[in-house]
Amino acid sequence: MSRFLASVPHRRFPTVAYAEREAMPLIQPRGGVPLFEAQLQLTKALSDAGADFIPLTIDSCTRHNQYETAMQLLRRSEEEGHSYLNGYPLVCHGHELTRQLYLDLDKPVSLRHGTPDARLLVEIAIASGIAEIEGGGLCYCLPYSEGFPIDRALLYWQYVDRVCALYSTPERPIHRESFGPLTATLVPPALAIVIEIIEALLAAEQGVLSFAVSFGQTGSFTQDVATARVLRRLVRKALDEHGFEAMQVHMVYHQWMGQFPMQRERAAALIAGSALVAGVIDADKIVVKTIDEALGVPRPEVNAEAVDTVRYVLRTFAAPKMIESSSIEVEAALLESEAGNILDAIYGLSGDMFWESVYRAFQLGWLDIPFSPHADNANRLISMRDANHSIRIVEPGAVPISTANAVSERKLLSSRVGQADNTYRQILADIMLMV
Ligand code: 5AD
Repeated sequence: MSRFLASVPHRRFPTVAYAEREAMPLIQPRGGVPLFEAQLQLTKALSDAGADFIPLTIDSCTRHNQYETAMQLLRRSEEEGHSYLNGYPLVCHGHELTRQLYLDLDKPVSLRHGTPDARLLVEIAIASGIAEIEGGGLCYCLPYSEGFPIDRALLYWQYVDRVCALYSTPERPIHRESFGPLTATLVPPALAIVIEIIEALLAAEQGVLSFAVSFGQTGSFTQDVATARVLRRLVRKALDEHGFEAMQVHMVYHQWMGQFPMQRERAAALIAGSALVAGVIDADKIVVKTIDEALGVPRPEVNAEAVDTVRYVLRTFAAPKMIESSSIEVEAALLESEAGNILDAIYGLSGDMFWESVYRAFQLGWLDIPFSPHADNANRLISMRDANHSIRIVEPGAVPISTANAVSERKLLSSRVGQADNTYRQILADIMLMV
């Protein structure tokens, strides 16, 4: 632990916020703008609106390690008073200035980006007093990159995890969070669960002490409840079985990550509805969208309003924790079995290091993420929604789920009445569910 981190207020560490969480999920918006002053105002506005975690969302140039371009666009933004970057260029601003953003802040700051090679970015983030780092070798490469080699992403994230571990103490750990929504486009929950567990294990191997798995709203109430239950259970089981009992794990729920409605009333309804789901699944944290989602980077006041709306729903509905029903039971049993099939197959691979087995599994098409732009993604798995909007595996490709589970998926899908000849249209409609 550096002397600087030892001087950062204890409440800036996510473990403190999680330990003090009461009935409601903690609330986290996203937000990043190029200019320091504007970021400072955004930070204040979000904190005043009641955000429990303060975001620092990074611009796309920095995410792709294009620091010179980021610098040019930052200068132009400063000169013209217009944002030419879609986030905060942390590497350009550097840690000394960025520390000034958080002088009066007593809540954790979360680094949100999407960077396959985040080595420099994360070192500067930690030096800025940011104690939560989102990302991972799979989750920040497959949804975001066409050509970044997956083995390199896995190794670069091994470095990031190690850096986080090195700057941690048991009382003040640098917290890591994986990004479970992936492409947010018809991703079967079993695959998201497996990827979250893999990333928790990879981080634990490097000595990370505090971690959050996450997933994105599926579009099905049943499937969200089942996914939450299975994800929580299986990640704990996997960590304990591999000797990582000491790692603390939390579960984060992302409000709908797919295409958002343009109509503000619908966007507000979607935000409120998914806040209710977050309460029911007892998420440790909810990551919030805004009614500007379909339009671009949200205006600060709209971003603050979304935090308020979510808090209002969580407070007023005081949701029961974990509803029971036979359809939830069936869904959870199927997801648990499928995730177990895939994990067992990966554990059975002969890599000397776990990341090598993970890489091999990806090459074999065992990890196959629908609609990933990555050139090496197998794209053989096909998914659609059933009558409850749950995401079903129509064709598993090379993903090693059992024949019995593949049959169950098809059977559940047959609950939906549809014509065989318009699969393409149906899949498009399934993707655009919330529009
Ligand atoms: N400010 C606020 N939210 C952002 N997002 C991306 N960039 C920003 C930003 N600069 C949000 C959007 C996007 C998600 C991945 O992150 O909601 O869909």
